[in-house]
Amino acid sequence: MTRTRMRINKYLSLCGLGSRRKTEEIIKKGQIYVNGIPTTNLSCQVDINNDTVMYRGQILLPVLTYHYLILNKPKGYVTTTKDERNRPTVLQLIPEQFREEGTFPVGRLDKDTEGLLLFTNDGDLAYKLTHPRFKVPKTYQVTLDRPLRDDHKMEIEHGIELYGSQTLPATIDPINDEWTIVTITITEGKKRQVRMMFSMLGYEVTSLIRIQYGPITLGNLPAGKYRVLSKQEIEKLKSTVN
Ligand code: URA
Repeated sequence: MTRTRMRINKYLSLCGLGSRRKTEEIIKKGQIYVNGIPTTNLSCQVDINNDTVMYRGQILLPVLTYHYLILNKPKGYVTTTKDERNRPTVLQLIPEQFREEGTFPVGRLDKDTEGLLLFTNDGDLAYKLTHPRFKVPKTYQVTLDRPLRDDHKMEIEHGIELYGSQTLPATIDPINDEWTIVTITITEGKKRQVRMMFSMLGYEVTSLIRIQYGPITLGNLPAGKYRVLSKQEIEKLKSTVN
C-alpha cells in the first residue's frame, strides 16, 4: 500500500471491521475515535502513519496483507465467528494467523452444507462478492431423494416464488443418468435457497455441496482443509466484480 491518507471507512475496513458500508454504520454510532476525538464524519481522512484510531478501547492497525483462502467446509460446522451454542465454527478450521488479521467467511453455508467457503480480510471485495447487484454465480452439487422431473427442472431454472419474490434464472445439469444427483448454478443467495427451491417441489435434498464460487473451484481439496488462492485466482475473482 503506497497511499498513507485514506477515507476513514476504507481505513476501518483494512483494520478488519468489515465492508466499507458496514464500517460506516460503526462510524455513525460515534464508536470511532481519531486522535482521541469521537468522529461521526464519514469523509474524515486518516493518515496511516500519524493518526491513532480507536474502537472499543483498542487501537486499530490496518492490515497490510490481504488473505484469500478457500475451505472445504465439512457438515456440522456453523458459518459464524462465534456460536452462542458452542457448536464448531468454520473459523476453527483456518489458522490463527489469518483470524488475527481479520479474515472472515464471505457469505455463509448452512450447518449441513459442505464445500467451498471463501475467506478474506479484503472487506471491499467481500462486500462486492456478496452484493446481489454483482450476481456472482455459485454452483452446488445436489443429491435428491428421487429423480428430478423435467418439468420441475424447467420450473426451477425459470424461477420460482420464494420468500415473496421470484428466484433469478438458474441452470441445472445432471451428474448421474437417474437425475438424482445434479448441479445447480444460482446467482443470488436467499436463505437456504437451494434446499428450499427443491423442497417446494416435493424433493428432499440429502446432500448439498458447493463446488464453485464465481471462477473458483473446490477441486479435490479434502473436507476440513483450506488452501490459499493463487495470484491468478485472486485476479479472476476480482475481475468478476470490477
Ligand atoms: N443453499 C442452501 O440451501 N444452503 C446453503 O448452505 C447454500 C445454498
